[in-house]
Amino acid sequence: MEELLREERKFYPSSTFTKQANIQDNSIYETASRDFTAYWEKEAENLYWFKKWDKALEWEPPFAKWFINGKINAAYNCLDRHADGLRKNKPAIIWEGEPGESKTLTYGDLTREVKLFANVLKNQGIQRGDRVTLYMPMIPELTIAMLACARIGAVHSIVFGGFSSQALQERINDCKSKLVITADGGYRRGGIIPLKHSVNAAVENCPSVEKVIVVSRIGDNGLASMHPGRDLWWHELMADSSDHCPAEEMDSEDMLFILYTSGTTGKPKGIVHTTGGYLTGVASTHKMVFDLKEDDIYWCTADIGWITGHSYLVYGPLANGATTIMYEGAPDWPEKDRFWEIIEKYKATIFYTAPTAIRACMKWGSKWPEKRDLSSLRLLGTVGEPINPEAWMWYHKHIGGERCPIVDTWWQTETGQILISPLPGITATKPGSATKPLPGINAQIVDAAGNPVPNGTGGFLVLKSPWPAMLRNIYGDTDRFIFQYWSRFENTYFTGDGAKTDEDGYFWIMGRIDDVINVAGHRIGTMEVESALVDHPAVAEAAVIGRSHELKGQAVVAFITLREGHEGNLDLAKEIKQHVVIKIGALARPEEIFFTELPKTRSGKIMRRLLRDIAENRSLGDTTTLADASVINQLKLLQAN
Ligand code: PRX
Repeated sequence: MEELLREERKFYPSSTFTKQANIQDNSIYETASRDFTAYWEKEAENLYWFKKWDKALEWEPPFAKWFINGKINAAYNCLDRHADGLRKNKPAIIWEGEPGESKTLTYGDLTREVKLFANVLKNQGIQRGDRVTLYMPMIPELTIAMLACARIGAVHSIVFGGFSSQALQERINDCKSKLVITADGGYRRGGIIPLKHSVNAAVENCPSVEKVIVVSRIGDNGLASMHPGRDLWWHELMADSSDHCPAEEMDSEDMLFILYTSGTTGKPKGIVHTTGGYLTGVASTHKMVFDLKEDDIYWCTADIGWITGHSYLVYGPLANGATTIMYEGAPDWPEKDRFWEIIEKYKATIFYTAPTAIRACMKWGSKWPEKRDLSSLRLLGTVGEPINPEAWMWYHKHIGGERCPIVDTWWQTETGQILISPLPGITATKPGSATKPLPGINAQIVDAAGNPVPNGTGGFLVLKSPWPAMLRNIYGDTDRFIFQYWSRFENTYFTGDGAKTDEDGYFWIMGRIDDVINVAGHRIGTMEVESALVDHPAVAEAAVIGRSHELKGQAVVAFITLREGHEGNLDLAKEIKQHVVIKIGALARPEEIFFTELPKTRSGKIMRRLLRDIAENRSLGDTTTLADASVINQLKLLQAN
């Protein structure tokens, strides 16, 4: 961090960029801070409301309601409004499959498909408020299914296809979905991910699930292993459906979706987002942060299974009538220039990805982007974790050709929308800093007592005022919602991140200060991995920490005490790692396992700091609070090995 704060390079947007930018002058910050509610009302007016709200905000901390009594439909805003107007033949989604096929859906096409599938949902008995779980590859049907849910007022819960069947089961049971939508499989690096097999295993223990709808992506009946009476083919249902389906008039505060994310306990949290405020927040920030223009070809590489995909691949861009690229596969398949090939092929103008992907591309070398014509690009973005200045500079030079502003966007599943980011036409950027809170956002860095800290001093990143896309609750667990986010500081949202400001008031995010780690931009709760570990019969106790990792940002490292009669060896370590893959998914697989007693304080708390020192090969610092000093020798031995 000290190193970060010494960063003195500053990059100003070119005058050519500024002259054409949506936001060209700083007065917007002042206008918004004078009356943030009025500011967001003005942004909300850009959407189509069946009925306008009576009041913009009701704020009874920690409960916020935005656009009270306003009636709106998210799918209508993302579809009909464009299809019925001038954008009927404008591409909405340009889809690229991993094996190389592609498909373009115009706003007219997408609207029709969504109406057809919305009727399929209705025919299956899905009603307003029912939950529907989506466990799908990155294919157009995923977007169609999402928007069809939104159209009829059903609540979607998307589970990333990299999660295991057990993780899927837990998420289905938590929100009691009636229906699961999946595919026979998905392509990844030339292989096939057997999604339907996972669904079959999961729903055996999901009493709420009545039906499963299956897209034939691979076209393999064995892979689909359909259960008669429960499983239905997407294409058969669509063939029998009608495209007459008016959008439901939803209340602004009706639930739009649930998205599970990791927290500080073993159980994932179902983050609840509602309709009017969420759509206002994502549409407004998408247009402003990415400087969106009518003819842009916008590409966000995130999987829709994460919040970035929800907000900046689907809802934000489509609400703004943008053309968005959706790509199914990996950046290095079949070759390490796949991203750059896609940019060249579709002449993408805006590109939004994660630092972990940039670091991987940097490692593969600049020869890959050099083979491709990237001159269509005019703006770059990053999200998900702090970007190291070296990766920022590489991105700037080799992808942005030193002409594209970079927006480093800070936000969370819970915030729904970007909260801290440069505005590309006016903000001078510094490699590694997300710069400043957006207009209308009241972010601060405070000490343990909740007082603002001076520039240069680290503290807790908090939000002092509500914003429209903020989470409304944790599904089914209001107590946890209050405890998790609102109990540390009065009437203030606590993000879980540490941060500092520099002499220019720029924000530098230092990462999580709770038991959450960030592996390749994926958020993983250490307790979640620990629960999976102790579930293995040989494991008595486990502690998990994040170790810094050159490419992934952080990697999972586990310290394990075995039960009597078990011996720590490579085979067992392998078996235990696999156990985590089964319980959660490959994204949580520990990179390394150490077999040892765990260092604890006299009050029984595991000293994670010591474990981090061991894992990162540092000297062990102060160990005087240890209950059992002999553990130190064991730990030192681990380090020596
Ligand atoms: O620690 C911050 C980090 O990612 C966390 C949120 O993770 P998730 O809910 O999965 O959402 C990721 C995509 C929005 C934050 O608490 N984070 C996200 N963006 C940045 C970041 N850290 C530093 N810089 C960022 N730009």
